[in-house]
Amino acid sequence: MWDERFSSSDFVFGTEPAAFLADAASHLDPGSRVLCVADGEGRNSVFLAGQGHDVTAFDASPVGVDKARGLAAERGQDVSFHVSGIEDWDWSQPYDALVAIFIQFMGPDMRATIFDGFRQAVRPGGLLLLHGYAPRQVNYGTGGPKAPENMYTEDLLRAHFGDWQIVTLRDYDAELSEGKGHSGRSGLVDLVARRPT
Ligand SMILES: C[S@@+](CC[C@H](N)C(=O)[O-])C[C@H]1O[C@@H](n2cnc3c(N)ncnc32)[C@H](O)[C@@H]1O
Repeated sequence: MWDERFSSSDFVFGTEPAAFLADAASHLDPGSRVLCVADGEGRNSVFLAGQGHDVTAFDASPVGVDKARGLAAERGQDVSFHVSGIEDWDWSQPYDALVAIFIQFMGPDMRATIFDGFRQAVRPGGLLLLHGYAPRQVNYGTGGPKAPENMYTEDLLRAHFGDWQIVTLRDYDAELSEGKGHSGRSGLVDLVARRPT
């Protein structure tokens, strides 16, 4: 499904980073080692590489990863790209930060397992930058799957990461203009959390 969506020459979510990341990247230390999960066509990983970070990214769609490689080359940026399902990723490698943006293809059971992986992959003192839709997004029809159970609430994220230092946790509406994939009024949830040392 994603290979097909990514097969046109335009970028489904644009080539600029998610608005959340453009702002939240200010929390990263210079030269951070960052993992971008389910990175799609590379808009977020390439942005972070351009900010001087040491970026690894993966996505399950080979077509998406090919486009991401092209975007990185066009911008003269170096990202270590991989084709991988999130369920197959080895979380034992520690990163200074993990970036997870619009990865709501997962239902609650898989999400719980993957969030455990995130908890492992962020080094002590490192950061998680997570951004996605709130359940009401299903009625907005401006992006994301029609599966309210895949969406985030503040309570859900607190249940998984409440023992970390919460830097930002907010649920809000905003106008997104991120390619034709995410366009219009959107119900959003942001989390920036620091793993305890
Ligand atoms: C809504 S897009 C977001 C892409 C990117 N994070 C962004 O913000 O531009 C969701 C992405 O999840 C990827 N994806 C879907 N299922 C996946 C899986 N099981 N493992 C890894 N990536 C997956 C898709 O290929 C797609 O790139």
